[in-house]
Amino acid sequence: MKGSINDSVKIDPDIKGARILVADDDALHRRIFADLIKNMGHNCLTVENGLEALEKIKTYGPDLIIMDVVMPGLDGYEVTRRLKEDPLSMHLPVVMVTSLSDRHSKIKGLEYGADEFLNKPVDETEFVVRIRNLLKVKRFEDYLMEHGRMLEGEVMSKAAQLERAFLKIKHGYIETIYRLTLAAEYRDKETGGHIRRMSLYCQMLARFLGLPEAQVEAIFFASTMHDVGKIGIPDSILLKPGPHTREEFEIMKTHTTIGARILHGSDSEILRIAEEIALTHHERWDGKGYPAGLRGEEIPISGRIVHISDIYDAIRSRRPYKDAIDHATACDIINNMEESFDPLILKGFNECACEFKRLFDENRDDGETPMQGLGLATG
Ligand SMILES: [Fe+2]
Ligand SMILES: [Fe+2]
Repeated sequence: MKGSINDSVKIDPDIKGARILVADDDALHRRIFADLIKNMGHNCLTVENGLEALEKIKTYGPDLIIMDVVMPGLDGYEVTRRLKEDPLSMHLPVVMVTSLSDRHSKIKGLEYGADEFLNKPVDETEFVVRIRNLLKVKRFEDYLMEHGRMLEGEVMSKAAQLERAFLKIKHGYIETIYRLTLAAEYRDKETGGHIRRMSLYCQMLARFLGLPEAQVEAIFFASTMHDVGKIGIPDSILLKPGPHTREEFEIMKTHTTIGARILHGSDSEILRIAEEIALTHHERWDGKGYPAGLRGEEIPISGRIVHISDIYDAIRSRRPYKDAIDHATACDIINNMEESFDPLILKGFNECACEFKRLFDENRDDGETPMQGLGLATG
């Protein structure tokens, strides 16, 4: 990287062919300066006053300006001030030439941004040395600016590459979560459609409740893992078609703590929320849920959102032991068990009820993979 920058910008130790603008209202001085500049091997353009100097700077693009202080109209101080205020010309070296040799005039010139002073009559040797030095400084500044621009370009292109790599990893990571979740769900009666719908219901409710978009996104992905702990429940209990005995139900309940243990201890925000959801998605607002019997706001909001969404989807879906139930009846059932839910989330559910119906209808179990439904690559 360094090599490419150094190769493209070279500092010439003996600069020739620079462009120098001379602004002086005195014709004799203009000619003297022009001759000296040409003898040094540079190009020269002369103007007679400050306004003309400001105009020509735009088209001529000088490397250095020799500026008389006393000129009709805009004087050298004012022209220098304007040049130094403009980001496009602020790096242009200005040599003030004056017959005023007093200290006050020089300090004023420096305050306005002059880089050098020469007194009239001009000492030719001093003129040559000062101009050469200033041009070297100018060339070095140009080099630094060009270097800075190239570095900026390289940083931006590296940032874009990193962003693309990050998105690729993120998609791979999310796809892995989905496929592992699906593997767990396949042991159960649940389906890919259920996972996809859960993400969409929970995303909608989280957004409706005004949660920050980063949290909405995390809940969207994390909600898919709510039942991942079922992987630890024996088939004889998990797949039993009839009602569970009391002991069997106690074992079923442990899918919450098993899931939380599987997901525990990750640095990932998605897995952190997934752990929270796995543990609390069967807790109830009235404290009668499991595993801990948490009550009200003791239950994390992610768990409360998944709880109502999971119940709606379970009521609507057909199971070996029950038929599918229509949307209106499902809403009635949910409102009849209102003590189970955070009142604010129940209100959100009722206000979004049509959307719940739409999401259910549009994401029925039809063999499509969850990845397709989420608009992510399926390979
Ligand atoms: Fe569950
Ligand atoms: Fe579920």
